[in-house]
Amino acid sequence: MSSPQIVLLPGDGIGPEIVGAAKRLLEAVGEFEFTEHQVGGASIDEHGAALTDDVLEACRRADAVLLGAVGGPKWDTTDPNAPRPEQGLLGLRKGMGLYANLRPVRPSPALVDASPLRPEVIAGTDLLVVRELTGGIYFGASARDGDRAHDDCEYTVAEIERIARVAFEAAGQRGGASARVTSVDKANVLETSRLWRETITRVAADYEGVELDHMLVDNAAMQLVANPGRFDVIVTENMFGDILSDESAMLTGSLGMLPSASLGAESEPGLFEPVHGSAPDIAGQGVANPLATFLSAAMMLRHGLGMDAEARAIEAGVDSALERGLRTPDLATADQETVGTEDMTDAVIGAVSLESAKS
Ligand code: IPM
Ligand code: MG
Repeated sequence: MSSPQIVLLPGDGIGPEIVGAAKRLLEAVGEFEFTEHQVGGASIDEHGAALTDDVLEACRRADAVLLGAVGGPKWDTTDPNAPRPEQGLLGLRKGMGLYANLRPVRPSPALVDASPLRPEVIAGTDLLVVRELTGGIYFGASARDGDRAHDDCEYTVAEIERIARVAFEAAGQRGGASARVTSVDKANVLETSRLWRETITRVAADYEGVELDHMLVDNAAMQLVANPGRFDVIVTENMFGDILSDESAMLTGSLGMLPSASLGAESEPGLFEPVHGSAPDIAGQGVANPLATFLSAAMMLRHGLGMDAEARAIEAGVDSALERGLRTPDLATADQETVGTEDMTDAVIGAVSLESAKS
C-alpha cells in the first residue's frame, strides 16, 4: 500500500511554525507523502488570490489536508473588492464540500489552572461542537450598495438534515451514559432557526438512544461558562458555531488547545486545522503553541486516514507533555516556566515514541 498523501497548507502568521512542528510529529508516527501549498495571505502575495484552482485541485486529490491558519494585519481591509486571506479557507470548505465541522472540547486535567473558570465549574466538561460549515450567513448573497450592505442567511432542509445526522451519530458513538444533542438556534427571532429546529426535531426521531434539547444561542453562550458539564454534543449553524466554539475553547484554558476536523462526503478528503488564528503578534518567535495542530493531526489520522492507534498515541503524547509541566506562554500561569514550539514538539515526539515502544 502506498503512503497516505497529505497536503500541508501552512498559511500565514504562526501557521508555518505549527504545521512544520506537526509534520515532524507525523513523521515520527508513520509514513506519509507530504506536499505543501500556499493559502491565505501567502497566496495573495504570490498569486493575487487567497486560493488558486491548482491548490484546490491538489487538496481534492489528497487523502487529507492539514492547515495552519490564515490572515494577518498585512491583508486587513474593508475594501469589498480586495482579496482577503479568509477567502482561502472559505473557498476550501465550499470547494471540498466540507459541511461538517467537529470541534471537540476536552479540558486536560493538567491544564485546569490555565482555564479562566474555576476548576469546579469545568470539572467533567467533555463536549463536541458540531458546526454547519458551508451554509448560512457565511455563504449567502452579500453586497455593498452605497450606504447599505447586506449578508443573507439561508438554509435548506437538506443542509440542516445532513448536519443533524452527523451530530446524532457522533452523540451515539461518543458512548456517554446520557447521549445528548443540544441544538442551538435563535428560533424566537429567525426564520432559518425555526426551519432548523423543525428539521432537527424530525431527524431526532431516527436516533432513539440520543436525547435532544433545544437552546437559544444567547442562553447557550451563558450556559457554556456557567455549567459546561451539562453539554454533550452541540449542533448549530455556521455563525453561531464559529462564536460558540471560540468560547468553548477557553474552557480548555487556551484557544491554543482546540483542534478541528472539517468533513464532507465520505469519499472526499477532510481538512484538519486548529481552531485558533494566525497570531501575527507572536509569529516567527518560536513560541507558538503547536498542540491544537497536533490534536488536529490526530483527528486527521483517525477520521481521515483510519489510523486510530497513531491518533491515540499523539493524544497521549500531548497529555504526557502537559503532565510533565511543559507550557508554551499561552498556557502558563505567571509563576510557570515556559518552553517554545520546538521543545514542546520534542517532548510530544519523545512521549509518542515511548508510547509506541510500549505497544
Ligand atoms: C474559524 C475561523 C474562520 C471562520 C475565519 C478565519 C474565516 O474563525 O474557523 O472558526 O469564521 O470560520
Ligand atoms: Mg472562528
